[in-house]
Order: sequence, then structure tokens, then C-alpha cells
Amino acid sequence: MNTIFIDNKKYELKEIPEDTPVLWVLRDYLDLTGTKFGCGVGMCGACTVLLDNSAIRSCSTPISQAYGKKITTIENKEDKELNSLRVAWKTHDVAQCGYCQPGQLMNATSLLKSNAKPSKEEIITSMDGNVCRCGTYNKILTAISAVAK
Ligand code: FES
Repeated sequence: MNTIFIDNKKYELKEIPEDTPVLWVLRDYLDLTGTKFGCGVGMCGACTVLLDNSAIRSCSTPISQAYGKKITTIENKEDKELNSLRVAWKTHDVAQCGYCQPGQLMNATSLLKSNAKPSKEEIITSMDGNVCRCGTYNKILTAISAVAK
């Protein structure tokens, strides 16, 4: 039995191979489908979640690395930074197709947890690995900057 904490809820994982990616534990075993599958090889950022407050690519992180730790996903309703970003995302009408936005929001949440007032350059550098096919990058920058004021 392996314990993990997801969005402040305790889970005891049984019979899940320890090399199963976090993404598939969330989606297939626990039916937490807010976290998205994009490339599956750690290149796009769509699957980003927080592991003890650091952004990880859940498609390429085995669940064994999360044993005893805290995972925060887009489905978390109580996270302060994530909630502030949600408001800014709506205010600035960031999403277009929306598919990459859970990953964008989680990466931005991780940034604000480590640096509450990032500069424009720090935001751009931190968000660089999260790909958006609709090209919402300027709106993402505006929304994060609004929270970081
Ligand atoms: Fe994980 Fe693309 S789906 S980085």
C-alpha cells in the first residue's frame, strides 16, 4: 500500500505498478481527468501538476516518486495561488481551445509559490516550456502579471 495526497485528499494506492506515470494514475485509476495528455514525452507541459509545490510533467514521472508526497492538480479548489490565477484567467479571457490551460495554470501556480512577484522576464522564462497551439502566450503573460502585482 502506498499513500499519496492529491488535492488535500489521502489515497491509498493498491495494485498500481510503481512505474505508472502520475498522469495515468490520475486519469485512469482515480478518474481525475482535469490533467491533460498532450505529447506523452515531457515536451509540451499539458500534463503539468505540482509535486510538493514544484511543477512536474506527470506524463513522464512515475507514481513511485509521489509516494508519501502531495500532488496538486487543476482540480484543487483550495489552493490560494491557483484560485487567484483562475480569476485572472477569466478576467483576461486567456483560454481559446483551452486544452493546454490546466498545464499552463499549474506551471504558473508553481512559479507564484516560489516567487510571488516575478518580473516579466521571469514569467516568460518560467512558462517557456508550456506549449499553446492557439498562441495565447500574451494573455497568459498578462494574467500572471496581474496576479503578481
Ligand atoms: Fe506531458 Fe506533454 S503530455 S509534457
